[in-house]
Amino acid sequence: MGRFYITTPIYYVNDAPHVGHAYTTVNADALARWHRLLGDETKFLTGTDEHGQKVADAAEKNGLTPQEWTDRTSARFREAWDALGISYDDFIRTTEPRHYESVQKFLSAIHDNGYLYKDVYKGLYCVSCEDYFTVESSIDGKCPIHGRELTEMEEENWFFKLSAFEDRLLEYYGEHPEFVTPETKRNEAYSFIKGGLRDISITRTSISWGVPVPWDEKHVFYVWYDALVNYLTAIGYGREDDEVDKWWPSSHHLIGKEIIRFHCVWWPAMCMAAGLEPASHVQVHGWLLVGGQKLSKTMAAEGGVRLTDIAPVVLTNEFGVDPIRYYLLRDTVLGNDGEFSHEGITSRYNTDLANNLGNLVARVTTVVNSKCAGIGPASRADSELRGEAEKAITDTAAAWNHFAPQSALEATWGLIGATNAYLERHAPWKMESGAQVEGVMGDALEAIRLVTILASPAMPAVCEEIWRRIGLGGSPTDQTFERSAKWGEYSGGQRVEKGAPLFPRIKSDA
Ligand code: ME8
Ligand code: MG
Repeated sequence: MGRFYITTPIYYVNDAPHVGHAYTTVNADALARWHRLLGDETKFLTGTDEHGQKVADAAEKNGLTPQEWTDRTSARFREAWDALGISYDDFIRTTEPRHYESVQKFLSAIHDNGYLYKDVYKGLYCVSCEDYFTVESSIDGKCPIHGRELTEMEEENWFFKLSAFEDRLLEYYGEHPEFVTPETKRNEAYSFIKGGLRDISITRTSISWGVPVPWDEKHVFYVWYDALVNYLTAIGYGREDDEVDKWWPSSHHLIGKEIIRFHCVWWPAMCMAAGLEPASHVQVHGWLLVGGQKLSKTMAAEGGVRLTDIAPVVLTNEFGVDPIRYYLLRDTVLGNDGEFSHEGITSRYNTDLANNLGNLVARVTTVVNSKCAGIGPASRADSELRGEAEKAITDTAAAWNHFAPQSALEATWGLIGATNAYLERHAPWKMESGAQVEGVMGDALEAIRLVTILASPAMPAVCEEIWRRIGLGGSPTDQTFERSAKWGEYSGGQRVEKGAPLFPRIKSDA
């Protein structure tokens, strides 16, 4: 048993949460739940990024002060996460006093260590990215990501000597081959560093919506510079409730691929400059695409993609919370891009949930009621299913441990498939009541018990319901994985309930 600290990016509050944010947050949630199941002391952090030009602009457009606007929009993120069963331990807002305190301490440390200097910044800026571009990195003067006109900027700024960290970063990457996963993304970050680093402007004087620079009060920190520090704010950096030694540096940042440079180049260099080890791991994921286009609030606002139909709550109302969680985790390999569609959700729902899991539970609870007087029999030590179950346990655990929810669920569904095949081979529904049918049902119940443990990080509520239906008290996560995930724990004698279908089929043309 160890410790596990996992974070999501903190989301901009320029607009409402959408399914792209849900994708990251559900993945982080499942990983946090997996580690809690292992018995690890776990901390799962998410939150909102509330400073910067983009947020200030959105507030103004809506006739509110930035603080009113961020209060309102940040609350919508919490609502979305509540609707999705997200078990975060801390929700950080960058407008909180604790964050100001940590940011000012962290950046003062960098300043004291001699890595900041003043100079005139002249260049191009994309408000949607909250990022600087050079003429070479723009496309005809437009942002390569948003296609928006870039703003010309010229002001006196504080600069961070990022260029001084080239060698140390390359060395760090060399010594920590798993710092960034998957490897393709690691290579992308590594080549970026190899290509040479330029110093970056980290303060602004033209806006005031930000964390003030303590040693130069005309300036506020550039939004990315305050945002990245949130991962340390949440563990008390520079404050009385300091728990940095407890949680850092063994921490995991889960991020989308468009913010690699910030998390895999800037952030480790900033940590080094402040005298801290970088976070031990950045897990990068791809984008969910709709008809080949990334879902982005900014593009939606500009009419590129309609996002109103795919707010997280719209989906959970239509399909249920756990089916959506399952779809997000199961349909896309973490690290690759994925295609998001209603047809895709419907097909996963009908195939994996209704036909496989739902059907298994329905069959078993029905036969136990018709042939075993509703009392679940014990499993057998020498069951034909045991080998399949043990393989599913090993493979599922290995996959979750390697940040691979998709293959974890594939391994778990392997046991569901094997159990359905086992039932078809033996056809207990054709048997007379007695020892034979009891043996088969006991084995099937044990397989179901194991499935509910293995799938609980993905579908916590459904798994708890199945656990209850097969007569077990409490929840599949009450005991640690090591203790409960072994064949033969279903001891029999429990009342088994044949409830309503867990996943009523959806018409695919709906
Ligand atoms: O970048 N597919 O915030 P943001 C998958 N505030 N994931 C997606 C997605 C999609 N189509 N669209 C968004 C920021 N995401 C900064 C972060 S961290 C110190 C500061 C997810 O509101 C994905 O995780 O633009 C991506 O990295 C994040 O939302 C960006 O959210
Ligand atoms: Mg973005």
